[in-house]
Amino acid sequence: EVFAPRRNSQGFAMTDTLALAPLRQQLAALENQRFHASPIVGGQRRTGTAQPRVSPIDSRREIGSLVASDASAVELALNLADAAQDAWAETAANQRAAMLEKAADLLEARQAEFLWLLSREAGKTLPDALGELREAVDFCRYYAHEARRLMGSAIALPGVTGEANELRLTGRGPFIAIAPWNFPLAIFLGQITAALAAGNTVIAKPSRRTPLIGMRAIEALLDAGIPADVLHYLPGESGGLSDKLLGDARVAGVAFTGSTGAAWKINRTLAARDSSIASLIAETGGLNAMIADSSAHVEQLILDVLMSAFNSAGQRCSALRILLVQDDIADAVIERVGKAMQELRLGDPLQLETDIGPTIDTLSQRDLQAYCDKLAQSAKLIGKTPLPQGLENGCFFAPQAFEVSLDALPTVETFGPVLHIARFKSDGLEDAVHRVNKLGFGLTMGVHTRLDSTVALVRRLAKVGNLYINRNQIGAVVGSQPFGGEGLSGTGFKAGGPHYLLRFAAERTVTVNT
Ligand code: ALA
Repeated sequence: EVFAPRRNSQGFAMTDTLALAPLRQQLAALENQRFHASPIVGGQRRTGTAQPRVSPIDSRREIGSLVASDASAVELALNLADAAQDAWAETAANQRAAMLEKAADLLEARQAEFLWLLSREAGKTLPDALGELREAVDFCRYYAHEARRLMGSAIALPGVTGEANELRLTGRGPFIAIAPWNFPLAIFLGQITAALAAGNTVIAKPSRRTPLIGMRAIEALLDAGIPADVLHYLPGESGGLSDKLLGDARVAGVAFTGSTGAAWKINRTLAARDSSIASLIAETGGLNAMIADSSAHVEQLILDVLMSAFNSAGQRCSALRILLVQDDIADAVIERVGKAMQELRLGDPLQLETDIGPTIDTLSQRDLQAYCDKLAQSAKLIGKTPLPQGLENGCFFAPQAFEVSLDALPTVETFGPVLHIARFKSDGLEDAVHRVNKLGFGLTMGVHTRLDSTVALVRRLAKVGNLYINRNQIGAVVGSQPFGGEGLSGTGFKAGGPHYLLRFAAERTVTVNT
């Protein structure tokens, strides 16, 4: 079978003033708009008491409202998703794929609205927002392509005694998709579209911090033709609600992205069931390192450190947390990182001169402050970005970098723009990689070197899902850099990779004795 070639979303360059001018107007026109999120079950928006939603850019700024899900919405979603499962699994993979491709087109057509929401609800800078929108579009098209490739037809297998054998993939059953706030569009839609592509009905739970983006994403899928009883949206957080969803025997699987602690909790809840076995696909935290030996190109290294550690205000699971530098170049690197941090600009994420937007909320801002205050008692602050006047009502947190000793590497993920730098001795490369491995996470690692021997050593030893050499370590591209970790960083398979859909599918073998 011949498949149409798949191409990643093109976006546009931020220097392209022709593309930017009309977009700027559209974004400006959206500044007074309010978005209203509510549960969508069976295609119906549920009513109830709406709570205001404010922007992390300025907590006085209302951007919309949310009607939270209640127990009756959860029950109805479970009933409908269960009832719709068989018909959806029997819908031809090609037809499911076409709906996802239509959704990708709608996301692109609604570009301005999604960019605005990503900036105003999640605090993303314009380049980050565009990158995320493109990733979401890519996921839709990639999993559509994968559904055709893997599920379009059965595989014929040899039979020893003249029997005809075939193996085919089909949906497993209703999936719960639980998304994080740091990629409220791309990861949210990536999990959902993979589950849908593989023939599963889906109940989608956005982060409680980003229900407005989630709602518009679900509406794009429904507008693209995903049947109303196949996809349901349950925004709003409450412990009881998640437990009810996860504890329901009809739920066949959970796709989760978030903290390692939350994944453990979900795993325990699923394990406590005694009437069915659900699969858990979890993409969790990272405690990501970059290793630079003395052959590194220092200018390139500094740019990649800044990008990896502070882009998106450090709120990427892939972000750099620990920079390990060989001691011959450590003084130069530390000095330059500190100076370069002075030049980063915090501010309104929609202004192009802004490098770093806010953290997601005041709680996150406070936790980061508390962490840095404590760290400052034992480690040396080597760099801090200035916090400009006028941002006091937003959740802005100035990036900070500390020098720590190799024996005092952090052991928990701090989800924000905080960098730890440690020196290792010229014969300490292997030990440095082992120390990182021992932290137990295994998501991304960066390496800066011009020595083949360093590349070979790290490739052999590093237990990480995504290894980046002589570049930054964020922004994996769908279909090119399948993304996801091992150890405490997740279960695999990798999002945006050729095996991911398999985790969402059941296999059936049929043998016919002819
Ligand atoms: N996939 C995201 C990245 O690579 C998290 O930065």
